[in-house]
Parts: sequence; structure tokens; C-alpha cells
Amino acid sequence: MKKALITGITGQDGSYLAELLLEKGYEVYGIMRRKSKVDYGNIEHLKDKVKLIYADMTDIVSLINAINISQPDEVYNLAAQSFVGASWEQPVATADIDANGVLNILEAIKNVKPDARFYQASTSEMFGLVQEVPQKETTPFYPRSPYGVAKLYGHWITKNYRESYNMYTCSGILFNHESERRGLEFVTRKITDAVARIKLGVQDHLELGNIDAKRDWGHSKDYVRAMWLMLQQDIPDDYVIASGETHKVREFIELAFQHVGIDVVWSGEGVGEVGKDKATGKVIVKINSKFYRPAEVELLLGDPTKAKKNLNWELEITFSELVKRMVESDLEKVRSEINGREYFNEAAATK
Ligand code: NAP
Ligand code: GDD
Repeated sequence: MKKALITGITGQDGSYLAELLLEKGYEVYGIMRRKSKVDYGNIEHLKDKVKLIYADMTDIVSLINAINISQPDEVYNLAAQSFVGASWEQPVATADIDANGVLNILEAIKNVKPDARFYQASTSEMFGLVQEVPQKETTPFYPRSPYGVAKLYGHWITKNYRESYNMYTCSGILFNHESERRGLEFVTRKITDAVARIKLGVQDHLELGNIDAKRDWGHSKDYVRAMWLMLQQDIPDDYVIASGETHKVREFIELAFQHVGIDVVWSGEGVGEVGKDKATGKVIVKINSKFYRPAEVELLLGDPTKAKKNLNWELEITFSELVKRMVESDLEKVRSEINGREYFNEAAATK
């Protein structure tokens, strides 16, 4: 039985990767942060199937302990402060976790289990102000946020440990991937949650920043498969994982509303732009400059040719299927929230 250690197991990708590895018969270990209240995040349903170890990316002693306990064949380093917007508010914490944290875990592996294979969660944010379209493994980097800059250090130190110590280390340069388990602060989930609430009458409108930004979006389930494939190769290497399509945020909004039978029509410009329900004329989308970023990544479009060729990786969930799954899941969540509230109101009323 192979053993794998996942950092960031409670996050979106960590949860899908844990499911994939359990299906493949791995013994799965995960590190979890100690918080004031125990929170299993996205792995509530897996907590009895995986072995959890308390550790933190900023504490090398805890990481050495985690490697010692798990003795992993494979380590997937997914833990990060992953919200780009927050990286301007917490640049030092972001660097500690997303840059130095990678060094900490590489050192822990080098000293305790140097033959473990290592996956680093690199990102298309490293391309930032893109120097080439589409972006591939050889495209020069130009990060545009403290998050992107920190991740670039993680990327290069992963490569450096491969070249310096002959360790099996890979970086997956993953473009945006979303899911029903995505955090509510990310634009896709913010949209699908709001669409469900507006449709069910518990929210008036949605406020966003730059809706002309373009992203290359896929589903997390497809992307965690690529992580596993990277660690099964004879030679460690770095790969771009992307859908090869790019869409504006506004297209995501339009499609999400279409799934609940609402057509959005746009009028105005810049912060004055609004999206209205075509049937009722009601404003359902507004622009709020507080969601603009100090420096923006306007366009991401990845070229996954190398992954398709070497890893035999293919995307299975299309953009429109992704939007549909997220909207349907949020409709269900909001409906049960409303039903729960009604149940409690009713219970209170009958007392
Ligand atoms: P996510 O949902 O935000 O999950 C991040 C995970 O990291 C959570 O489990 C979080 O734990 C953990 N974490 C944060 N700080 C930590 C610390 N100091 N010590 C230990 N654990 C810590 O992110 P995701 O979308 O699954 O992404 C996974 C990885 O891929 C991240 O490294 C992200 O930067 C990278 N990435 C993501 C995308 C994407 O589009 N999703 C694209 C490219 C790269 P808590 O539950 O305690 O907060
Ligand atoms: N979050 C958010 N909220 N983004 C908004 C909003 C809003 O209200 N309005 C417009 N946007 C725009 C952002 O300015 C950005 O251009 C785009 O929507 C996507 O934002 P996010 O969903 O927050 O994702 P991201 O692209 O910044 O970062 C994600 O993808 C990276 C890979 O490219 C994260 O998952 C990163 O961890 C990941 O590395």
C-alpha cells in the first residue's frame, strides 16, 4: 500500500485529491492546522478514512514530525494562503506560508524521507502580466501580487531541490480550477452562491470588481488527477495544467444566471455598469471598486499540450458543465438553509 501525505487536505483540491488517492488504495495522511474550533473544512465526510496530523507550514518542527509519522512515498504540497486578494492585506503571512513553507517541507523531506516524491502547487498567477499567449512551461513569469511572488519562490525552490539534491520534485502550474467546494471569496463561487440566493429571493443583487478579467477555468476533480499523474512518471518535470479556453468573468455571470432562467443585460460603463434581469428590469449585478485589485491579472490562457502528450491528461468537465454543477449545488445548499430556517421559525412559533 502506497502512503501519501497531503498538506492543505481540508481545502478544495486537498479533499478531491484525498478521495482520488483513497480510491486508488493509498493510505492517506493529511496535515491540518490547529484552530480554536476543530474544523475539517471539505473533508468532514473523509475524516475517519484519512489520518490527520496537526502541523503548520510555517513550523518546520511540525512538518518534520508529519513526515516522520507518515513516512510517505508521495507528498502533495497544497497548503497555501490561496486568495490573491488577501495577499495584499497579509503579505508577510502569505510569504511565510506560500514561499518559506515550501522550503520548510522540502527540508523536512530531505532530512527524513529523501526518496519521497514531491508535488508543489504552483500557479498560473506566476505568469501575471502575461508575456506570451497562450502561456506554457517556457513562458517567462511576471507575477502581479504578493501571492504570485511568493508562489514563484515555491516554484523555483522546488526546481532547485530537484537539481541540487536529485530529489523527485515536480511543480504543476495549474490554471484556475473551481468546484462545488470552492471558497466563497473566489469569484466563481461568489457568483454561483449569489445566483442561487437571488433566484430563491434571499439576496437582492451581487457586487463585483473587474468583470472583464479573463480566466482559464476547469474543475478541480480533473486537476487533482493531473497532480497524481505527475508523480507517476519516470522523470520528474513541471507541467502546465489548463483547459486551453479563456472566458471573461462576465461570461461566467451570464451563464450562471442562464442556468436559473435569468438573462442578464448590461448597461453603463466602469463602476457605473450594471447587469439587469432582462425580464423584470431589476438590477442584479453592480460594480463596486472595493473589489478591484491594486494590480490585476487581466488574461490567463494556458497551453496544456505537454501534459496531454507526456501524462496522457485530458480535461473531462467542460466550462459550461462546471458552471452548471456549481449553480445546482448552491441552489441545493441555499434551499436547505431556507428550509432549515423555516423549520426553526415554525418550531419557535408552535412553542
Ligand atoms: P484552498 O481551498 O484555499 O486550500 C488551502 C489549504 O491550505 C487549506 O486546507 C488550508 O487550511 C491550508 N493552509 C493554509 N495555510 C496553512 C498553514 N499555514 N499551514 C497548513 N495549512 C495551511 O486552496 P485550493 O483551491 O484547494 O488550492 C490548493 C493549492 O493549489 C494552493 O496551494 C493554491 O495556492 C494552489 N492553486 C490553486 C488554484 C485554484 O484555482 N484553485 C490554481 C493554482 C494553484 P485551512 O482549512 O485551515 O484554512
Ligand atoms: N474574488 C473576486 N471577487 N474576484 C473578482 C471579483 C470579486 O468580487 N470581481 C472581479 N473579480 C476578478 C478578480 O479581479 C480576478 O481577475 C478574477 O475575478 C478571478 O479572481 P479569483 O476567483 O479570486 O481568482 P484568482 O484568479 O485571483 O486566483 C485563483 O486562481 C489562481 C490561479 O490562476 C486562486 O485560486 C489562486 O489560488 C490560484 O493560484
